[in-house]
Amino acid sequence: MSDSLLRVENLNVFYGNIHAIKNVSLEVKKGEIVTLIGANGAGKTTTLQTISGIIRSKSGSIYYRDKDITKERAHKINHLGVAQVPEGRRIFTNLSVEDNIEMGSYAVKQSHKEKEAAMEKIFKMFPRMKERLAQRAGTLSGGEQQMLAIGRALMSKPDLLLLDEPSMGLSPLFVKEIFENISKLKEEGTTILLVEQNAKMALSIADRAYVLETGKVIMEGDAKELRDDPKVKKAYLGA
Ligand SMILES: Nc1ncnc2c1ncn2[C@@H]1O[C@H](COP(=O)(O)OP(=O)(O)O)[C@@H](O)[C@H]1O
Ligand SMILES: [Mg+2]
Repeated sequence: MSDSLLRVENLNVFYGNIHAIKNVSLEVKKGEIVTLIGANGAGKTTTLQTISGIIRSKSGSIYYRDKDITKERAHKINHLGVAQVPEGRRIFTNLSVEDNIEMGSYAVKQSHKEKEAAMEKIFKMFPRMKERLAQRAGTLSGGEQQMLAIGRALMSKPDLLLLDEPSMGLSPLFVKEIFENISKLKEEGTTILLVEQNAKMALSIADRAYVLETGKVIMEGDAKELRDDPKVKKAYLGA
């Protein structure tokens, strides 16, 4: 048994003629937080969507627990233990908080009891969600909507959580809270692939990092080392 949970090898993704992802390879080991940083348009979302089966690659392979999932469908990949929190949250604004959370378990078979247990775990992390169960999700604040989107993804009890820009558009206080919760999820045993434009925060909680530039991995390594790298500092940390 290897300690690799996710392995992406030589991935190429196109939108028509646009070569969005160019020979991207990356690995996430069990228990790690790995972050994928890069500017707007670098290909971060495309990479996550391809891993979760929403977008098809032209070539390359994706392995989850050493199983080839390159051609699996999205709901099957979710069923295997991979859940994605999409960019911009994508919650159902007209539905209640409770209904949104329940949506997260559609791909996995759960008894009523299992569902309740999964929900209780989510409420432990986000007590505010429990107070707001009946509230229409569209009336939550941005930070609360992000918590809801993460909570929804946790309903399928993923071993690997893919987070796409969880800090986007949030006030500094919520950003801090969201990142603290991501660290907590890791402590509780969830492995995390975190996509962020907020490189500073992402590198501060991650174990390892990949830097994506116009579809290519241009740097990779220990998160602390990358944080101190002059080139990363200049290009991504505003130093
Ligand atoms: N649906 C699409 N159709 C055509 N091009 C797209 C589409 N989605 C993304 N792209 C292009 O692919 C590249 C990578 O985009 P994306 O993965 O969204 O980057 P990021 O998440 O890093 O901002 C960009 O050049 C973007 O314009
Ligand atoms: Mg994106």
